[in-house]
Amino acid sequence: MLRDVIQGDLPIFFENQLDPDANLMAAFTAKDPADRDAFMAHWVRIMASDTVTIRTILFDGQVAGSVLSFEHFGKLSVSYWIGKAYWGRGIATSALSQFLTQVKTRPIYARAAKDNVASLRVLEKCGFTVTGEDKGFSNSRGQEVEEYLLELP
Ligand SMILES: CC(C)(COP(=O)(O)OP(=O)(O)OC[C@H]1O[C@@H](n2cnc3c(N)ncnc32)[C@H](O)[C@@H]1OP(=O)(O)O)[C@@H](O)C(=O)NCCC(=O)NCCS
Repeated sequence: MLRDVIQGDLPIFFENQLDPDANLMAAFTAKDPADRDAFMAHWVRIMASDTVTIRTILFDGQVAGSVLSFEHFGKLSVSYWIGKAYWGRGIATSALSQFLTQVKTRPIYARAAKDNVASLRVLEKCGFTVTGEDKGFSNSRGQEVEEYLLELP
């Protein structure tokens, strides 16, 4: 289930963001995931932004993660982050597909590290297709990482 984000969700999102495996997987992450002030400042900014839509993902009434759309290089893009305890239960797929019924702008875009198989599969199952590739510096891996660009037409 998706609902609007409330202030009490933020400490859980922060805990999720601390996870080293998740950071390696996502690759394009905060410079210092443990910097609580930077995290809070970022969330205050995105929650107030007219161009960002964010939902909290609930699973069995518990906060499992977040899904959002935001403008990236002038294109509306999606992203999501699920707490590790909830991985592998279809939550990201179900959350993104519900989110896409609420955010109806098309085309809508996404990016994922080429080796983020789970995220690529989530996107594929929600109808995204790979349209290109790029690379960028990964804070969590400390090196350039190749990524796929995806689009839902
Ligand atoms: C990527 C992420 C969102 C996946 O969430 P999830 O709820 O576990 O995903 P789902 O359960 O919906 O699984 C989607 C698909 O990926 C597969 N999958 C899940 N984890 C996997 C893994 N570690 N390796 C390979 N495949 C995996 C699932 O089997 C499923 O495919 P299937 O239907 O063909 O079996 C989650 O691992 C996460 O939040 N990671 C850290 C943040 C991140 O990478 N965000 C995306 C940035 S682009």
